[in-house]
Amino acid sequence: MTIGVTGATGQLGRLTIEALLRQHQPDELVAVVRDPAKATDLAERGISVRVADYGSPAALRAAFEGVEKLLLISGSEPGQRVPQHRNVIEAAKAAGVGHVVYTSAPHADSTDLALAPEHKATEELIKESGLPYTFLRNNWYTENYAPQLDQARQTGTITAAAGEGRVASASRVDYAEAAAAVLTAGDHEGRVYELAGDIAWDFPELAVAVGTVLGREVGYRPVEPDVLIKELTVAGLDEGTAGFVAALDTNIAGGVLADTGDGVLASLIGRPTTPLLEGLRPFA
Ligand SMILES: NC(=O)c1ccc[n+]([C@@H]2O[C@H](COP(=O)([O-])OP(=O)(O)OC[C@H]3O[C@@H](n4cnc5c(N)ncnc54)[C@H](OP(=O)(O)O)[C@@H]3O)[C@@H](O)[C@H]2O)c1
Repeated sequence: MTIGVTGATGQLGRLTIEALLRQHQPDELVAVVRDPAKATDLAERGISVRVADYGSPAALRAAFEGVEKLLLISGSEPGQRVPQHRNVIEAAKAAGVGHVVYTSAPHADSTDLALAPEHKATEELIKESGLPYTFLRNNWYTENYAPQLDQARQTGTITAAAGEGRVASASRVDYAEAAAAVLTAGDHEGRVYELAGDIAWDFPELAVAVGTVLGREVGYRPVEPDVLIKELTVAGLDEGTAGFVAALDTNIAGGVLADTGDGVLASLIGRPTTPLLEGLRPFA
């Protein structure tokens, strides 16, 4: 079986390739990358490296030749994702890919999450294409909170506008192993998996976990979204980005990331998801 992974030089892509290599020979894997210079190590290990930008339909079509199962790792440019993903889906269809697995967002078709519309639109495009699919609706990466360690180191606090909201985060490696499991075996076609950590933590608990890994007292300072935006812009963020961060915190306060997904992620990977504390430890 030939398995293709887009975004293969990204953080989730690399971890997924590593997980796949535990079950597959390198020559069964196709790493689709936009910059081959970043993929020399993959090529040296015998993985077929093919170059294609999400903006290049012809290159994508060629890159997917012979690929039976394809992991489409969502692009990292908000606002560009829908046309980019459309290119990938059309190329996959033209190349005869048999199964597309897509990294989506929690409850993408019904949530208020600010970044969900592009994922919802992509899911719709995949369904309309008629390609067999699986949606991996990944909750937050615990790694998203690495910058909070720096903040806590400097100030002893974690400031957020997340109120009493909870986040069922898991580590990237957990999501990567789940993607590899879905690509490797089992009947996953037509399935939509809400993938999340086993435990949904709140921000006081995040502060305690950050304090533990830093070995110091850390507290949670809840603020209103407008205060957060002001503080982030003073700290150097542009207004659009600060507003987006505040919108995501407001989403969290509203509970959109609290669903632990009934343990589906743990069951796909055959072990508990990485606890918050362990997920944060590498950043101490
Ligand atoms: N669940 C979450 O908490 C969360 C958080 C952040 C992001 N995400 C989403 O999950 C995806 C994977 O996460 P990640 O941590 O692996 O992100 P990442 O490290 O930024 O990787 C993104 C990958 O997409 C590739 N890519 C971006 N634009 C491309 C284009 N135009 N053509 C071809 N390839 C392109 C990048 O290529 P290069 O290697 O050349 O840069 C990289 O390999 C992100 O892209 C984003 O959609 C989820």
